[in-house]
Amino acid sequence: MAEALRVGIAGLGTVGASVARVLRDKAAELTRQCGREIVVTAVSARDRSRDRGVDLSGAKWFDDPIELAEKADIDVFVELIGGDEGAARSCVSAALAAGRHVVTANKALLAKHGVALAEVAEKKGVLLNYEAAVAGGIPVIKTMREAMAGNSVNRVFGILNGTCNYILTRMEAEGLTFEACLKDAQRLGYAEADPTFDIEGNDTAHKLAILTSLAFGTRIASDDIYLEGISNITQADIRAAGELGYRIKLLGVAQRTESGIEQRVHPTMVPTASVIAQVHGVTNAVAIETDILGELLLSGPGAGGNATASAVVGDIADIAKSRPGFQHGPVFGRPAKELRPYKKAQMRSHAGGYFIRLTVHDRTGVFAAIAKRMADNDISLESIVQHANGSDGVSEKTVILVTHETTEAAVRKAVDGVTKDGHLTDKPQVIRIERAG
Ligand code: HSE
Repeated sequence: MAEALRVGIAGLGTVGASVARVLRDKAAELTRQCGREIVVTAVSARDRSRDRGVDLSGAKWFDDPIELAEKADIDVFVELIGGDEGAARSCVSAALAAGRHVVTANKALLAKHGVALAEVAEKKGVLLNYEAAVAGGIPVIKTMREAMAGNSVNRVFGILNGTCNYILTRMEAEGLTFEACLKDAQRLGYAEADPTFDIEGNDTAHKLAILTSLAFGTRIASDDIYLEGISNITQADIRAAGELGYRIKLLGVAQRTESGIEQRVHPTMVPTASVIAQVHGVTNAVAIETDILGELLLSGPGAGGNATASAVVGDIADIAKSRPGFQHGPVFGRPAKELRPYKKAQMRSHAGGYFIRLTVHDRTGVFAAIAKRMADNDISLESIVQHANGSDGVSEKTVILVTHETTEAAVRKAVDGVTKDGHLTDKPQVIRIERAG
């Protein structure tokens, strides 16, 4: 049997501890699958004394993860520290420079420095595996990088943040407040260290940036993503969506258009009958549309220790099975030096349907004024719903418009016009509708 694969793990939080536990509990099975043992020989974390529910006494302890990356007797460096700079970036760079394979779950690091790190890995002839960085336990990187060779992708979109999907699902099903749902997501270990990264869409954006590169063979362009989170979504939106046959999901979407590639993260109305609308709770889903395969939808657990550990262990096992000259190809599907520049499509040219919720004074001419603003901007309406707002004597109405396909520029102009007309009593709400099967 080949020599054991020696693994060093930096970061022993929820995911790191789960990885160590799975490698220990499944050692015999992994040896049979990989043809060699996988042994954790070194670890590093902030607090040495914490009980993590797994025996790490056989592994050498390093206080400094960079020292572990450079000096430990390891073949694979597993980075589970997180963050796009600081210790995570330094130790991944050090491990690659020292010619070690790297496995990471760090989407923020890859979204910012992935191409540069891939160049080093490819030059050194080592693997940089990152399945756990996107959609937790779903093997979407493997699918896009290996199983879809030759396909041209037209659109990739998905629910990429378990915390947001968990919050939206519970808000809808149980009528709970946003804050209560977020607290539970944090307690269950789904949320990022700073949960604003979840709810404001940054975490989804990091994952989307990686998928975009794999889909279109372009350099990662995480700064060119249109970003809106879910903190403005109210029970009124959730109820109105339901009445009109839609459900609200935070989607990341990358789409090829005539003017370039659109990358956007925003709350989205998807038809209630669509498959992606049935993806609930912490579950993630990724839909990929290609010329050869057609439409593919992968769904599964997107966050949490075990789901993420499953992807990390899969990446380590791939390294155990690989041998020089027989690896799974470039880090982002094409050699890092050959990734094309990213050509951004402007958000104002985005074409699609829109949901517009307006709270207006209940007086003569308001409806006509709204209709005129829509017509002036060439916006055709698919449906219009009007509600009385409560019974507290305030003469307000809610008007909900669903448009046929139009452009972002037209909707922004029309809504600005309605706002200037002075009929609104609250901020207008605009939510894009996504075509989904
Ligand atoms: N905070 C992330 C989520 C964890 O909620 O999906 C997985 O990246």
